[in-house]
Amino acid sequence: MKVAIDGPAGSGKSTVAKLLAKELGFEYIDTGAMYRALAWKMLKHGYSYESKTDIEKVIQNTIFSFESPNLLMDNATIGDEIRTSEISLLASKIATISEIRAFLTREQRKLAENRDLVMEGRDIGTVVLPDADYKFYITASPEERAKRRYNQLKKMGIDADFNAILREISFRDKNDSSREIAPLKPAGDAIVIDTTEMPLNEVIKLILKKMKFQ
Ligand code: DC
Repeated sequence: MKVAIDGPAGSGKSTVAKLLAKELGFEYIDTGAMYRALAWKMLKHGYSYESKTDIEKVIQNTIFSFESPNLLMDNATIGDEIRTSEISLLASKIATISEIRAFLTREQRKLAENRDLVMEGRDIGTVVLPDADYKFYITASPEERAKRRYNQLKKMGIDADFNAILREISFRDKNDSSREIAPLKPAGDAIVIDTTEMPLNEVIKLILKKMKFQ
């Protein structure tokens, strides 16, 4: 069984997807981490996202794999180094490149094979797993999302500035929803949940209820 969870930056979809997977006893895969990890690798090795040759090179020399519960790139676990603002912006930029999206979509479909799964991202219900058994689109107001991201970064010990995060979220919203390929939007058959004023346990309860009665 496949469950697709999509939504904008900081909507709480990661927390929801992780908890839901635990509740259902399914694996959890965060596809945003794959865009971030690739952006991190390009930055680290000096690959330019404006060069077709560099993009080809990085695609040919990258492997993703999954060893429950960890997502690996080039056989190494992906860690918190991909959670900085610099990598957030770079990931959103490389996510507009068709070769990169085609590569990661292919990898994501491979990872989804033969397992019960909650997969989280921007285009899971629309592009990666259009036949998912259940699709949820989790959203919240930009201010609420900035507040959540701020608290999340603080918890990880990363220095954060609320207004800068709000600006970054608005920039990424625009970038993610206006790109030509696989833009961020709810699938026609997705259930949209606005979590601005909904505590986490209520969101999970609502999803489980929808799954039971669909
Ligand atoms: O979910 P996140 O903030 O970790 O994702 C980082 C970026 O990756 C996001 O700005 C857009 C991109 N992304 C995407 O285009 N498609 C996905 N399925 C997941 C993430």
